[in-house]
Amino acid sequence: MTTQQSLSVGIHDIAIATGHHVLELDDLAERLGVDPAKYHVGIGQDAFSVPAPDEDIVTMGAAAAKEVIDRHGVEGIRTVLFATESGVDQSKAAGVFVHGLLGLPKGVRVVELKQACYGGTAAVQLALGIVARAPHERVLVIAADVARYDVDTAAEPTQGAGAAAILVSADPDLIEIEPAAGVFTADVDDFWRPNDRSTALVDGRLSVSAYVDAFIGAWDDLAAQGGPAFGDIARFVHHQPFTKMAIKAHRKLTQHVGEPFDESELAIGFTYNKQTGNTYTASIWIGLAALLDLDDDLAGQRIAMFSYGSGSVGELMTGIVRPDHQQHRRVGRVQEVLGSRVRLTVDEYRALHAAGAATSEDVERPRVTAGPFRFAGVRGGARHYEAVAQD
Ligand code: COA
Repeated sequence: MTTQQSLSVGIHDIAIATGHHVLELDDLAERLGVDPAKYHVGIGQDAFSVPAPDEDIVTMGAAAAKEVIDRHGVEGIRTVLFATESGVDQSKAAGVFVHGLLGLPKGVRVVELKQACYGGTAAVQLALGIVARAPHERVLVIAADVARYDVDTAAEPTQGAGAAAILVSADPDLIEIEPAAGVFTADVDDFWRPNDRSTALVDGRLSVSAYVDAFIGAWDDLAAQGGPAFGDIARFVHHQPFTKMAIKAHRKLTQHVGEPFDESELAIGFTYNKQTGNTYTASIWIGLAALLDLDDDLAGQRIAMFSYGSGSVGELMTGIVRPDHQQHRRVGRVQEVLGSRVRLTVDEYRALHAAGAATSEDVERPRVTAGPFRFAGVRGGARHYEAVAQD
């Protein structure tokens, strides 16, 4: 019998995309007569992205995936996993539209995954398994969402939109994911979206306690699987429906394991999400992208990634950051993506929100997005997408 060297499998690249517009929470606070500190400090958010009428999860997901394909090509990609809470069709996977827009080879399997905000992490786990079995293959994971709640509800300031494309491969450039993971599931009605609604229903208070329970439960399960000690983890990055949620949960974990709580250690991972708002499945990966782009002390360090999807499923994964990961930083590109958004007034945002429900009625959408792909409209009941000529 020969001994096999263990295979390094993990995240090779991450790209992010978001909506064309942005609503500053200062503007919403002024309109609603709320102290802006409630948003900036109380929930820990500064702004949220709003899609243009010709944008959705497909256009944002394709934009993020295009960046990854432009950098690495399509060689070895035989699987595309698209995770979303805000799917555009009850049957066809959003990733099939992306496959067409990007001109990916026919020899590819595509499927969509759902479990609220957790689906992207399930997709990464499946991708890791595929690559472990076939190390010459690479898997393109796309996590994209539009977080929509009814206006004039407590959840309104915690909306958002965005996508992350994650390339999973052997011998990755960014992070080697460790085999042990902690998982947790509990049937709870903290957030859900019935099939006839385009906005989610949420019990905000319950979602905080359900998230904390899932984080502690996933931690205990990780420990039972032989995972690392708290002190052997340099950084944590969390799913961020609003960044204060991650702070509340992390404080509870430190109490659970009897370690001191240092809120400042979480701040870098919040940098991008404070601007995009909640991006559901993409949130944890946008948080990870911020950490990798902006934290100077990660090389060779272990980080823990906590994903939570209401309903509820939690998973805690760990990985070792590659010593030379800083050669692959994308901070300039992300600043461009966030900085080029067009600011909306509250009236403009609310008009877009009112028109934002999915429809199967035939409609042509106005040309607004500056992104590489657009949702052209519905024809004969089917959604049509097209590339946008770039300057
Ligand atoms: N300055 C600083 N902080 C302030 C403040 C001010 N002027 N006014 C209020 N706050 C704080 C509150 O003390 C509270 O902090 P705490 O939670 O640490 O006690 C926080 O701001 C929120 O205030 P609260 O009145 O509880 O908020 P709310 O009823 O408006 O709801 C959410 C807030 C987050 C619960 C709501 O936006 C929501 O449900 N969002 C969706 C959550 C979600 O996505 N869940 C599912 C995914 S996990």
